[in-house]
Amino acid sequence: MDINSLISQYIEEIKATQIEAFQDKAAEVERFRVRFLGRKGVMNELFEQFKQLPGDQKKNVGIALNQLKTAAQDKVEEFKRFVEQAPELNDTHDLSMPADFLTAGSRHVLSVTMNEIAEIFARIGFTIEDGPEIEDDYHVFTALNFASDHPARDMQDTFFIEKEPNVNKPTDVLLRTHTSGVQVRVMERQKPPIRVIMPGRVFRNEAISARAHCIFHQVEGLYIDKKVSFVDLKQTLLYFAKEMFGPDTQIRLRPSYFPFTEPSAEMDISCNICGGKGCNICKGTGWLEILGCGMVDPNVLEASGIDSKEYSGFAFGMGVERMAMLKYQIRDLRLYFENDLRFLHQFDNIV
Ligand code: DAH
Repeated sequence: MDINSLISQYIEEIKATQIEAFQDKAAEVERFRVRFLGRKGVMNELFEQFKQLPGDQKKNVGIALNQLKTAAQDKVEEFKRFVEQAPELNDTHDLSMPADFLTAGSRHVLSVTMNEIAEIFARIGFTIEDGPEIEDDYHVFTALNFASDHPARDMQDTFFIEKEPNVNKPTDVLLRTHTSGVQVRVMERQKPPIRVIMPGRVFRNEAISARAHCIFHQVEGLYIDKKVSFVDLKQTLLYFAKEMFGPDTQIRLRPSYFPFTEPSAEMDISCNICGGKGCNICKGTGWLEILGCGMVDPNVLEASGIDSKEYSGFAFGMGVERMAMLKYQIRDLRLYFENDLRFLHQFDNIV
């Protein structure tokens, strides 16, 4: 290629070079300068060729060479100004690179399970109520018909969270051992008909193992109106069991004892793993225990200012961890709280 075409080609190239395309702008500007104006750069190379030219060509080519040099110098100046004015653009980010995928979080399996229980009851008119985790003895025990020396208080190992000053005796401030206390708070502020579920976290002074934890979750239910009977309780819980564990699920109620219900029962569902035939999950019985329930003891209604001659009601309480264990075949309670992503990611798609 002759020197004139080379010069005009370089001039075109310089015109077309845009600093926006550079990744590491300051370094690229320097590279550009060295390429054209450096010791072994384009200008010097062309100048060597220029020296070989016959005298009559030197004038025109000399003018063109000067134009090229000016174009290169101007461009370098322009680029330098640009880099100085916009230092934040002088970085090493490649804007054309494909973006990293964001790993979106997902709900914890216990939240999903708690929401599912709440939704099932919402479909038959239950609303959600909340109560404090730091409670007092009255709402957790006394108003629920636990006498002060009642052995039922030992059913649940309580965390007391304050000591009376100077006396090494616990005050009645405690972490709630069950959500049943929220029943009392609801009855204190609402008049029947009452139809609520009360999800929440509860605390017990237990050694942590695969089958017990000092923190877990419950969903409590309460229904109070005129003429509420045990049949209403049974139908409500049968509906719940079928919605939660599938339409073929059966229930059975076994007599039990809780201070705040009379009569009291524990409810089993037919084993959702073996369908009731007997397997190692249901220990060969075909049944799985899932909740406690009963008719609200008249003493509990009266303690919260509800006339037990006019109104009756039922209550139930279930463990959320246990529900999720049965539904998703989780074998160890500790997994819920260890935040091991390998465990948590298994539930990414359960909504
Ligand atoms: N509060 C009980 C527990 O933690 C569960 C329970 C049983 C709640 C019977 C109720 C009920 O509302 O009626 O073991």
